[in-house]
Amino acid sequence: METVLSGIRSTGNLHLGNYFGAVKNFIKMQNENNCFFFIADYHSLTTYPTPHDLHNNVRMVLAEYLATGLDPEKSAIFVQSDVREIPELYLLLNMNAYVGELERTTSFKEKIRTQPENVNAGLLTYPVLMAADILIHKANKVPVGKDQEQNLEMARKFAKRFNFMYKVDYFPEPQPYNFGEELVKVPGLDGTGKMGKTAGNGIYLVDDEKTIRKKVMSAVTDAGPTVMNQQMPEPIDNLFSLMKLVSEQSTIDFFKDKYNSCEIRYGDLKKQLAEDIIKFNLPIREKILEISSDNDYMRKVASLGAEKARASASQTLKDVREIIGFKSF
Ligand code: TRP
Repeated sequence: METVLSGIRSTGNLHLGNYFGAVKNFIKMQNENNCFFFIADYHSLTTYPTPHDLHNNVRMVLAEYLATGLDPEKSAIFVQSDVREIPELYLLLNMNAYVGELERTTSFKEKIRTQPENVNAGLLTYPVLMAADILIHKANKVPVGKDQEQNLEMARKFAKRFNFMYKVDYFPEPQPYNFGEELVKVPGLDGTGKMGKTAGNGIYLVDDEKTIRKKVMSAVTDAGPTVMNQQMPEPIDNLFSLMKLVSEQSTIDFFKDKYNSCEIRYGDLKKQLAEDIIKFNLPIREKILEISSDNDYMRKVASLGAEKARASASQTLKDVREIIGFKSF
């Protein structure tokens, strides 16, 4: 059985794109592997959340993942800051991470460009902390999106470097977990590209009915087809792709026929799509709200997860300290 570790940003709610993409695969993944899922709240400090936001973001994200089907019995679901072994490994890995290689990462260069007024050391060593997250559980596989591939490559580099420096074969080199063909791409509402790529083009699992209707009704369309059976431009094709996720086949067929005969009214299609998304979202939304307000349950889940994560992390740290040469008198 492989050890899979998945890091979840503590900022940003889950949208339908996340749900039909990664999250559905996570739910399957946890049946076949030794899984760790954690919420990366230390990482979020690079952007200075208020104490109130820091906690509430973690609460919401944890509730969302539980509501969508992550199982605290099957996996270790934990909050990063509950595992103090992570910062200690981070400190140790920092000694073998070079400023030059950290400065050259795309995400750091991007930060220098977009927020020159706040280039903190946490941003520079972000990949080291991420490597600590992964290596502390000696994870073999890490599901990552395109934007995190370089960070994972750095984690491999730090693992190899540690093994080489101390002439051990201790850390496995973490590989990307490949969802393969199963990864569904969910389009956004702004006509082009994936949901979540641009702010405001997504429907969140916690969105209420009014918000969903408003968002769907303002989705980008065009002037309508003028030739029978003409090919659909991207914005319209996207709306049908969303329908495929939440609507009945007969509904999709109905609007396809209307499109092909040039009789379609996009307003009607959007109204139907909004209602079908609401029907799909509502039970999940209710579950998220129920879980997030049940503090006893939240506490139980977080402490069970922390306990599992600490058991694995403290063993790794004990080994690493020994390898490096720390000894008690
Ligand atoms: N950096 C990741 C993101 O922004 C989150 C993350 C932190 C992570 N630590 C990780 C992902 C470890 C995978 C493994 O999405």
